[in-house]
Amino acid sequence: MIDPEIGFTSDVIRDPNRFVGRTDLIRSCMNALNSPLGLIAVYGKRGVGKSSLLRQIQQMALGDYTLARQAGLDHEIPKNTRKYLTVYYACDSMISDGATLLTRMCNDQNEEDGLLRLVPNDGKELTEFTRSQEVHGGADLKVVSWGTKGVESSKYARVVSGDIVQTFRNFTSAIVTHQVKKLMGRDALLVLLDEFDVIPNKNGLGSLIKSLSTADLKFGISGIGHDLHDLIQDHASVERLLEQGAIHVKPMAEFETQGILNRAEQLFKGHLTFVPAVKKEIARISEGYPYFTQLLGKECVLKVNNKRTTEVSEVIFQEVLDDIKTGKSFPTLERTYQRAIGNSTDRQILLHLLAEQPEENTIFNEDVGRVFLKKVRKEAEDLSIQYVDQILPRLLNGAFGPTLVRVPERPGIYEFVNPVFRLYVRLRHF
Ligand SMILES: Nc1ncnc2c1ncn2[C@@H]1O[C@H](COP(=O)(O)OP(=O)(O)O)[C@@H](O)[C@H]1O
Ligand SMILES: [Mg+2]
Repeated sequence: MIDPEIGFTSDVIRDPNRFVGRTDLIRSCMNALNSPLGLIAVYGKRGVGKSSLLRQIQQMALGDYTLARQAGLDHEIPKNTRKYLTVYYACDSMISDGATLLTRMCNDQNEEDGLLRLVPNDGKELTEFTRSQEVHGGADLKVVSWGTKGVESSKYARVVSGDIVQTFRNFTSAIVTHQVKKLMGRDALLVLLDEFDVIPNKNGLGSLIKSLSTADLKFGISGIGHDLHDLIQDHASVERLLEQGAIHVKPMAEFETQGILNRAEQLFKGHLTFVPAVKKEIARISEGYPYFTQLLGKECVLKVNNKRTTEVSEVIFQEVLDDIKTGKSFPTLERTYQRAIGNSTDRQILLHLLAEQPEENTIFNEDVGRVFLKKVRKEAEDLSIQYVDQILPRLLNGAFGPTLVRVPERPGIYEFVNPVFRLYVRLRHF
Protein backbone atom coordinates (compact mmCIF):
# COMPACT_ATOMS: atom_id res chain seq x y z
CA MET A 1 0.00 0.00 0.00
CA ILE A 2 1.29 3.43 -0.94
CA ASP A 3 0.55 6.33 1.38
CA PRO A 4 -0.73 9.15 -0.87
CA GLU A 5 0.54 11.79 1.57
CA ILE A 6 4.15 10.89 0.77
CA GLY A 7 3.84 12.53 -2.62
CA PHE A 8 0.69 14.62 -2.48
CA THR A 9 -0.89 16.95 0.02
CA SER A 10 -3.85 19.29 0.13
CA ASP A 11 -2.15 21.10 2.97
CA VAL A 12 -0.02 24.24 2.80
CA ILE A 13 3.49 23.35 1.64
CA ARG A 14 6.11 24.10 4.29
CA ASP A 15 8.91 21.80 3.18
CA PRO A 16 10.93 23.48 0.40
CA ASN A 17 11.52 20.03 -1.11
CA ARG A 18 7.84 19.71 -1.89
CA PHE A 19 7.45 23.19 -3.32
CA VAL A 20 7.41 23.10 -7.12
CA GLY A 21 8.11 25.82 -9.68
CA ARG A 22 7.40 29.51 -9.13
CA THR A 23 10.90 30.69 -9.93
CA ASP A 24 9.87 34.28 -10.65
CA LEU A 25 7.88 34.52 -7.45
CA ILE A 26 10.76 33.09 -5.42
CA ARG A 27 13.00 35.73 -6.93
CA SER A 28 10.57 38.51 -6.02
CA CYS A 29 10.24 37.19 -2.47
CA MET A 30 14.00 37.01 -2.13
CA ASN A 31 14.39 40.62 -3.28
CA ALA A 32 11.62 41.85 -1.01
CA LEU A 33 13.13 40.07 1.99
CA ASN A 34 16.51 41.57 1.37
CA SER A 35 15.42 45.15 1.22
CA PRO A 36 15.48 46.67 4.68
CA LEU A 37 12.26 48.61 4.34
CA GLY A 38 9.05 47.62 2.67
CA LEU A 39 5.97 45.50 3.00
CA ILE A 40 5.42 42.15 1.29
CA ALA A 41 1.91 41.59 -0.06
CA VAL A 42 1.04 38.23 -1.60
CA TYR A 43 -2.30 38.07 -3.40
CA GLY A 44 -4.16 35.87 -5.87
CA LYS A 45 -7.10 33.53 -6.18
CA ARG A 46 -8.18 30.78 -3.84
CA GLY A 47 -6.14 27.57 -4.03
CA VAL A 48 -3.46 29.08 -6.21
CA GLY A 49 -0.65 28.65 -3.67
CA LYS A 50 -0.41 31.87 -1.59
CA SER A 51 -0.07 30.32 1.85
CA SER A 52 2.54 27.88 0.61
CA LEU A 53 4.55 30.75 -0.82
CA LEU A 54 4.24 32.64 2.46
CA ARG A 55 5.68 29.64 4.32
CA GLN A 56 8.59 29.63 1.88
CA ILE A 57 9.14 33.34 2.55
CA GLN A 58 9.33 32.45 6.23
CA GLN A 59 11.91 29.78 5.46
CA MET A 60 14.10 32.17 3.47
CA ALA A 61 13.70 34.85 6.14
CA LEU A 62 15.34 32.48 8.58
CA GLY A 63 18.30 32.16 6.23
CA ASP A 64 17.40 28.88 4.52
CA TYR A 65 17.71 29.51 0.79
CA THR A 66 17.45 25.84 -0.26
CA LEU A 67 14.41 26.65 -2.35
CA ALA A 68 16.10 29.50 -4.22
CA ARG A 69 19.10 27.29 -4.91
CA GLN A 70 16.92 24.45 -6.17
CA ALA A 71 15.15 26.92 -8.41
CA GLY A 72 18.48 27.79 -10.02
CA LEU A 73 18.73 31.21 -8.44
CA ASP A 74 22.01 30.49 -6.66
CA HIS A 75 23.88 33.37 -8.29
CA GLU A 76 21.13 35.82 -7.38
CA ILE A 77 21.13 35.11 -3.65
CA PRO A 78 22.76 38.10 -1.91
CA LYS A 79 26.04 37.39 -0.13
CA ASN A 80 24.77 38.65 3.17
CA THR A 81 21.11 37.82 3.22
CA ARG A 82 19.00 39.68 5.71
CA LYS A 83 18.01 37.30 8.48
CA TYR A 84 14.93 37.46 10.59
CA LEU A 85 13.08 35.89 13.45
CA THR A 86 9.53 35.21 12.31
CA VAL A 87 5.95 35.35 13.49
CA TYR A 88 3.15 33.73 11.45
CA TYR A 89 -0.50 34.35 12.10
CA ALA A 90 -3.58 33.28 10.12
CA CYS A 91 -6.42 35.82 10.40
CA ASP A 92 -10.09 34.93 10.66
CA SER A 93 -13.26 36.89 10.09
CA MET A 94 -13.77 37.44 13.83
CA ILE A 95 -10.89 39.89 13.65
CA SER A 96 -12.90 43.01 12.96
CA ASP A 97 -10.17 45.58 12.48
CA GLY A 98 -6.56 46.58 13.04
CA ALA A 99 -6.82 46.91 16.81
CA THR A 100 -8.35 43.45 17.17
CA LEU A 101 -5.64 42.07 14.95
CA LEU A 102 -2.89 43.49 17.16
CA THR A 103 -4.68 42.25 20.29
CA ARG A 104 -4.89 38.77 18.84
CA MET A 105 -1.22 38.76 17.97
CA CYS A 106 -0.25 39.97 21.43
CA ASN A 107 -2.19 37.05 22.92
CA ASP A 108 -1.41 34.27 20.47
CA GLN A 109 0.10 31.37 22.36
CA ASN A 110 1.29 29.36 19.40
CA GLU A 111 4.60 27.91 20.48
CA GLU A 112 6.30 27.96 17.09
CA ASP A 113 4.66 30.83 15.23
CA GLY A 114 3.18 33.24 17.79
CA LEU A 115 4.36 36.72 18.70
CA LEU A 116 3.97 36.22 22.42
CA ARG A 117 6.45 33.35 22.37
CA LEU A 118 9.26 35.79 21.53
CA VAL A 119 8.48 38.46 24.12
CA PRO A 120 11.24 38.28 26.74
CA ASN A 121 9.94 37.17 30.08
CA ASP A 122 11.50 35.75 33.22
CA GLY A 123 11.06 32.06 33.46
CA LYS A 124 10.02 31.46 29.87
CA GLU A 125 12.23 28.91 28.15
CA LEU A 126 12.95 29.11 24.45
CA THR A 127 14.83 26.70 22.27
CA GLU A 128 16.10 26.84 18.71
CA PHE A 129 14.48 24.67 16.10
CA THR A 130 14.48 24.41 12.32
CA ARG A 131 11.42 24.40 10.16
CA SER A 132 12.91 22.13 7.51
CA GLN A 133 14.96 18.98 7.36
CA GLU A 134 17.77 20.73 5.53
CA VAL A 135 21.19 20.94 7.13
CA HIS A 136 21.33 24.69 6.64
CA GLY A 137 17.71 25.16 7.64
CA GLY A 138 17.74 28.51 9.43
CA ALA A 139 16.90 28.33 13.09
CA ASP A 140 13.83 29.90 14.64
CA LEU A 141 12.79 29.96 18.30
CA LYS A 142 10.02 28.05 19.97
CA VAL A 143 8.68 27.92 23.49
CA VAL A 144 9.53 24.92 25.62
CA SER A 145 7.97 26.29 28.76
CA TRP A 146 5.98 29.47 29.39
CA GLY A 147 7.36 29.61 32.95
CA THR A 148 5.57 29.75 36.24
CA LYS A 149 3.84 33.03 35.51
CA GLY A 150 1.63 31.43 32.90
CA VAL A 151 0.85 32.87 29.53
CA GLU A 152 -1.41 35.82 30.25
CA SER A 153 -0.13 38.70 28.22
CA SER A 154 -0.68 41.06 31.16
CA LYS A 155 2.18 39.31 32.90
CA TYR A 156 4.54 40.43 30.21
CA ALA A 157 6.48 43.63 30.26
CA ARG A 158 5.02 46.99 29.35
CA VAL A 159 1.41 46.31 28.57
CA VAL A 160 -0.26 49.68 28.16
CA SER A 161 -3.86 49.15 29.10
CA GLY A 162 -6.29 50.64 26.64
CA ASP A 163 -3.62 51.21 24.02
CA ILE A 164 -3.03 48.11 21.96
CA VAL A 165 -0.94 49.86 19.35
CA GLN A 166 1.55 51.01 21.99
CA THR A 167 1.50 47.58 23.63
CA PHE A 168 2.28 45.98 20.29
CA ARG A 169 5.14 48.44 19.76
CA ASN A 170 6.51 47.62 23.20
CA PHE A 171 6.27 43.89 22.58
CA THR A 172 7.97 44.04 19.21
CA SER A 173 10.71 46.40 20.32
CA ALA A 174 11.47 44.13 23.29
CA ILE A 175 11.62 41.19 20.86
CA VAL A 176 13.92 43.06 18.51
CA THR A 177 16.32 44.14 21.25
CA HIS A 178 16.50 40.91 23.20
CA GLN A 179 15.75 38.02 20.89
CA VAL A 180 16.40 39.24 17.35
CA LYS A 181 19.63 41.18 17.99
CA LYS A 182 21.08 40.02 21.29
CA LEU A 183 20.16 36.36 21.39
CA MET A 184 20.10 35.42 17.70
CA GLY A 185 22.20 38.15 16.05
CA ARG A 186 19.61 38.68 13.30
CA ASP A 187 18.66 41.79 11.37
CA ALA A 188 14.94 42.14 11.98
CA LEU A 189 11.61 40.65 12.96
CA LEU A 190 9.24 39.49 10.20
CA VAL A 191 5.51 39.33 10.95
CA LEU A 192 3.57 37.27 8.40
CA LEU A 193 -0.21 37.58 8.30
CA ASP A 194 -2.07 35.02 6.21
CA GLU A 195 -5.76 35.16 5.20
CA PHE A 196 -5.59 38.91 5.53
CA ASP A 197 -8.55 39.27 3.14
CA VAL A 198 -11.08 37.93 5.66
CA ILE A 199 -10.75 40.92 8.00
CA PRO A 200 -14.06 42.72 7.33
CA ASN A 201 -13.02 46.26 8.21
CA LYS A 202 -9.73 47.02 6.56
CA ASN A 203 -10.03 50.76 7.03
CA GLY A 204 -6.73 52.23 8.02
CA LEU A 205 -4.94 48.88 8.13
CA GLY A 206 -2.49 50.02 5.48
CA SER A 207 -1.49 53.11 7.37
CA LEU A 208 -1.30 51.14 10.62
CA ILE A 209 1.13 48.71 9.03
CA LYS A 210 3.06 51.58 7.56
CA SER A 211 3.43 53.28 10.92
CA LEU A 212 4.64 50.05 12.52
CA SER A 213 7.11 49.06 9.80
CA THR A 214 10.74 49.91 10.46
CA ALA A 215 14.13 48.57 9.44
CA ASP A 216 13.74 46.24 12.44
CA LEU A 217 10.17 45.14 11.81
CA LYS A 218 8.84 43.99 8.46
CA PHE A 219 5.32 42.82 7.63
CA GLY A 220 4.22 40.31 5.03
CA ILE A 221 0.52 39.90 4.33
CA SER A 222 -1.29 37.42 2.13
CA GLY A 223 -4.84 36.89 1.00
CA ILE A 224 -7.35 36.44 -1.79
CA GLY A 225 -7.57 39.31 -4.22
CA HIS A 226 -7.36 40.32 -7.86
CA ASP A 227 -5.20 43.25 -6.99
CA LEU A 228 -3.62 44.99 -4.05
CA HIS A 229 -6.71 47.07 -3.50
CA ASP A 230 -8.65 43.96 -2.45
CA LEU A 231 -6.08 43.29 0.22
CA ILE A 232 -5.29 46.78 1.49
CA GLN A 233 -8.01 49.30 0.89
CA ASP A 234 -5.92 52.32 1.77
CA HIS A 235 -3.09 50.99 -0.34
CA ALA A 236 -2.08 54.47 -1.42
CA SER A 237 -0.56 54.93 2.03
CA VAL A 238 1.68 51.90 1.56
CA GLU A 239 2.42 52.39 -2.13
CA ARG A 240 6.06 53.25 -1.57
CA LEU A 241 6.53 50.39 0.85
CA LEU A 242 5.27 48.04 -1.83
CA GLU A 243 7.66 48.95 -4.60
CA GLN A 244 9.35 45.55 -4.36
CA GLY A 245 6.90 43.57 -2.34
CA ALA A 246 3.72 43.25 -4.40
CA ILE A 247 3.59 39.58 -5.31
CA HIS A 248 0.76 38.36 -7.52
CA VAL A 249 0.39 34.59 -7.43
CA LYS A 250 -1.17 33.52 -10.71
CA PRO A 251 -2.17 30.03 -11.79
CA MET A 252 0.84 27.86 -12.55
CA ALA A 253 2.12 27.16 -16.03
CA GLU A 254 1.28 23.70 -17.31
CA PHE A 255 4.87 22.54 -17.00
CA GLU A 256 4.78 23.47 -13.32
CA THR A 257 1.65 21.47 -12.56
CA GLN A 258 3.26 18.57 -14.42
CA GLY A 259 6.25 19.26 -12.21
CA ILE A 260 4.11 18.51 -9.15
CA LEU A 261 3.56 15.00 -10.54
CA ASN A 262 7.26 14.59 -11.33
CA ARG A 263 8.14 15.71 -7.82
CA ALA A 264 5.63 13.25 -6.39
CA GLU A 265 7.26 10.42 -8.32
CA GLN A 266 10.58 11.37 -6.74
CA LEU A 267 9.00 11.51 -3.29
CA PHE A 268 7.49 8.05 -3.87
CA LYS A 269 10.99 6.88 -4.74
CA GLY A 270 9.89 4.87 -7.76
CA HIS A 271 7.05 3.08 -5.98
CA LEU A 272 4.57 5.00 -8.07
CA THR A 273 4.76 6.33 -11.61
CA PHE A 274 2.45 8.11 -14.02
CA VAL A 275 2.52 7.46 -17.75
CA PRO A 276 3.35 10.70 -19.59
CA ALA A 277 -0.09 11.03 -21.20
CA VAL A 278 -1.76 11.02 -17.78
CA LYS A 279 0.60 13.67 -16.44
CA LYS A 280 -0.26 15.83 -19.38
CA GLU A 281 -3.94 15.29 -18.92
CA ILE A 282 -3.86 16.06 -15.17
CA ALA A 283 -1.96 19.26 -15.87
CA ARG A 284 -4.48 20.24 -18.52
CA ILE A 285 -7.46 19.60 -16.26
CA SER A 286 -5.86 21.49 -13.34
CA GLU A 287 -5.59 24.75 -15.29
CA GLY A 288 -2.72 25.89 -13.14
CA TYR A 289 -4.36 25.26 -9.77
CA PRO A 290 -1.91 23.16 -7.74
CA TYR A 291 -4.65 22.28 -5.28
CA PHE A 292 -6.53 20.36 -7.97
CA THR A 293 -3.35 18.64 -9.13
CA GLN A 294 -2.69 17.47 -5.57
CA LEU A 295 -6.27 16.21 -5.22
CA LEU A 296 -6.16 14.30 -8.51
CA GLY A 297 -2.75 12.89 -7.61
CA LYS A 298 -4.08 11.54 -4.34
CA GLU A 299 -7.05 9.90 -6.08
CA CYS A 300 -4.67 8.20 -8.50
CA VAL A 301 -2.67 6.74 -5.63
CA LEU A 302 -5.82 5.39 -3.98
CA LYS A 303 -6.91 3.79 -7.25
CA VAL A 304 -3.49 2.26 -7.85
CA ASN A 305 -3.55 0.79 -4.33
CA ASN A 306 -6.92 -0.68 -5.13
CA LYS A 307 -5.69 -2.32 -8.30
CA ARG A 308 -2.45 -3.52 -6.73
CA THR A 309 -0.27 -1.93 -9.33
CA THR A 310 2.30 0.88 -9.21
CA GLU A 311 1.64 2.67 -12.48
CA VAL A 312 -1.05 5.21 -13.19
CA SER A 313 -1.98 4.24 -16.74
CA GLU A 314 -4.56 5.91 -18.95
CA VAL A 315 -7.02 3.17 -18.09
CA ILE A 316 -6.57 3.73 -14.38
CA PHE A 317 -6.86 7.47 -14.75
CA GLN A 318 -10.09 7.03 -16.66
CA GLU A 319 -11.48 5.15 -13.67
CA VAL A 320 -10.42 8.00 -11.40
CA LEU A 321 -12.31 10.40 -13.67
CA ASP A 322 -15.36 8.13 -13.68
CA ASP A 323 -15.49 8.20 -9.88
CA ILE A 324 -15.27 11.98 -9.88
CA LYS A 325 -18.06 12.17 -12.46
CA THR A 326 -20.46 10.45 -10.12
CA GLY A 327 -19.52 12.58 -7.12
CA LYS A 328 -17.79 9.84 -5.15
CA SER A 329 -14.31 11.28 -4.87
CA PHE A 330 -14.22 14.70 -3.24
CA PRO A 331 -16.85 14.95 -0.49
CA THR A 332 -16.25 18.63 0.27
CA LEU A 333 -16.50 19.75 -3.34
CA GLU A 334 -19.50 17.45 -3.82
CA ARG A 335 -21.29 19.06 -0.86
CA THR A 336 -20.64 22.47 -2.37
CA TYR A 337 -22.03 21.17 -5.65
CA GLN A 338 -25.20 19.77 -4.12
CA ARG A 339 -25.76 22.91 -2.07
CA ALA A 340 -25.35 25.08 -5.14
CA ILE A 341 -27.80 23.19 -7.35
CA GLY A 342 -30.35 22.47 -4.62
CA ASN A 343 -32.56 19.85 -6.29
CA SER A 344 -33.02 21.73 -9.53
CA THR A 345 -31.97 19.98 -12.69
CA ASP A 346 -32.25 23.24 -14.58
CA ARG A 347 -29.91 24.97 -12.17
CA GLN A 348 -27.54 22.03 -12.43
CA ILE A 349 -27.44 22.42 -16.19
CA LEU A 350 -26.99 26.17 -15.90
CA LEU A 351 -24.08 25.64 -13.50
CA HIS A 352 -22.44 23.27 -15.97
CA LEU A 353 -22.96 25.65 -18.86
CA LEU A 354 -21.31 28.42 -16.85
CA ALA A 355 -18.43 26.22 -15.67
CA GLU A 356 -17.78 24.92 -19.14
CA GLN A 357 -17.81 28.26 -20.89
CA PRO A 358 -14.49 28.26 -22.68
CA GLU A 359 -11.91 30.76 -21.53
CA GLU A 360 -11.42 33.44 -24.10
CA ASN A 361 -8.43 35.54 -24.67
CA THR A 362 -10.26 38.74 -24.06
CA ILE A 363 -8.62 42.07 -24.55
CA PHE A 364 -9.15 42.67 -20.87
CA ASN A 365 -6.64 40.52 -19.13
CA GLU A 366 -8.61 40.48 -15.91
CA ASP A 367 -11.54 38.76 -17.61
CA VAL A 368 -9.75 35.45 -17.41
CA GLY A 369 -11.77 33.15 -15.18
CA ARG A 370 -14.95 35.12 -15.68
CA VAL A 371 -18.17 33.86 -17.18
CA PHE A 372 -20.65 35.68 -19.34
CA LEU A 373 -24.30 35.12 -18.68
CA LYS A 374 -25.36 36.38 -22.09
CA LYS A 375 -23.55 33.58 -23.85
CA VAL A 376 -25.13 31.03 -21.59
CA ARG A 377 -28.67 32.28 -22.08
CA LYS A 378 -28.76 31.12 -25.67
CA GLU A 379 -27.50 27.66 -24.83
CA ALA A 380 -29.91 27.47 -21.93
CA GLU A 381 -32.78 28.29 -24.25
CA ASP A 382 -31.70 25.55 -26.62
CA LEU A 383 -31.91 23.16 -23.68
CA SER A 384 -35.34 24.61 -22.89
CA ILE A 385 -34.33 26.13 -19.59
CA GLN A 386 -36.61 29.12 -19.47
CA TYR A 387 -36.27 30.82 -16.17
CA VAL A 388 -32.59 31.56 -16.00
CA ASP A 389 -33.26 34.66 -13.93
CA GLN A 390 -35.13 32.62 -11.37
CA ILE A 391 -32.61 29.84 -10.99
CA LEU A 392 -29.53 32.03 -10.99
CA PRO A 393 -29.97 33.85 -7.64
CA ARG A 394 -29.23 30.77 -5.53
CA LEU A 395 -25.82 30.58 -7.16
CA LEU A 396 -25.16 34.13 -5.99
CA ASN A 397 -26.58 33.66 -2.51
CA GLY A 398 -24.05 33.53 0.32
CA ALA A 399 -26.25 31.12 2.27
CA PHE A 400 -25.66 28.47 -0.41
CA GLY A 401 -22.04 29.21 -1.19
CA PRO A 402 -21.97 31.57 -2.95
CA THR A 403 -20.84 29.89 -6.13
CA LEU A 404 -20.61 33.02 -8.24
CA VAL A 405 -20.01 36.68 -7.60
CA ARG A 406 -21.00 39.52 -9.83
CA VAL A 407 -18.18 41.47 -11.32
CA PRO A 408 -19.29 44.93 -10.20
CA GLU A 409 -18.02 47.07 -13.01
CA ARG A 410 -19.68 45.18 -15.84
CA PRO A 411 -23.23 43.78 -15.93
CA GLY A 412 -23.81 40.18 -16.89
CA ILE A 413 -20.32 39.05 -15.98
CA TYR A 414 -19.75 36.69 -13.11
CA GLU A 415 -16.88 34.87 -11.57
CA PHE A 416 -16.59 31.57 -9.76
CA VAL A 417 -15.68 32.32 -6.15
CA ASN A 418 -13.64 29.16 -5.99
CA PRO A 419 -11.82 28.38 -9.24
CA VAL A 420 -11.17 24.83 -8.04
CA PHE A 421 -14.91 24.31 -7.72
CA ARG A 422 -15.31 25.35 -11.33
CA LEU A 423 -12.74 22.72 -12.32
CA TYR A 424 -14.69 20.18 -10.29
CA VAL A 425 -17.99 21.00 -11.97
CA ARG A 426 -16.33 20.44 -15.33
CA LEU A 427 -15.43 16.88 -14.35
CA ARG A 428 -18.74 16.18 -12.66
CA HIS A 429 -21.44 14.59 -14.78
CA PHE A 430 -25.03 15.60 -15.09
N1 LIG B 1 4.51 25.50 -5.38
C1 LIG B 1 3.72 24.46 -5.12
N2 LIG B 1 4.11 23.19 -5.44
C2 LIG B 1 3.29 22.16 -5.18
N3 LIG B 1 2.08 22.25 -4.62
C3 LIG B 1 1.63 23.47 -4.29
C4 LIG B 1 2.43 24.63 -4.52
N4 LIG B 1 1.73 25.70 -4.09
C5 LIG B 1 0.57 25.23 -3.60
N5 LIG B 1 0.50 23.89 -3.71
C6 LIG B 1 -0.64 23.05 -3.30
O1 LIG B 1 -1.83 23.73 -3.69
C7 LIG B 1 -2.79 23.71 -2.66
C8 LIG B 1 -3.19 25.12 -2.30
O2 LIG B 1 -2.09 25.79 -1.74
P1 LIG B 1 -2.23 26.99 -0.72
O3 LIG B 1 -0.88 27.51 -0.48
O4 LIG B 1 -3.02 26.55 0.47
O5 LIG B 1 -3.07 28.02 -1.59
P2 LIG B 1 -3.88 29.34 -1.17
O6 LIG B 1 -3.32 29.81 0.13
O7 LIG B 1 -3.63 30.28 -2.30
O8 LIG B 1 -5.31 28.94 -1.08
C9 LIG B 1 -2.19 22.87 -1.54
O9 LIG B 1 -2.66 21.57 -1.72
C10 LIG B 1 -0.72 22.89 -1.79
O10 LIG B 1 -0.17 21.67 -1.38
MG1 LIG C 1 -4.21 30.16 2.02
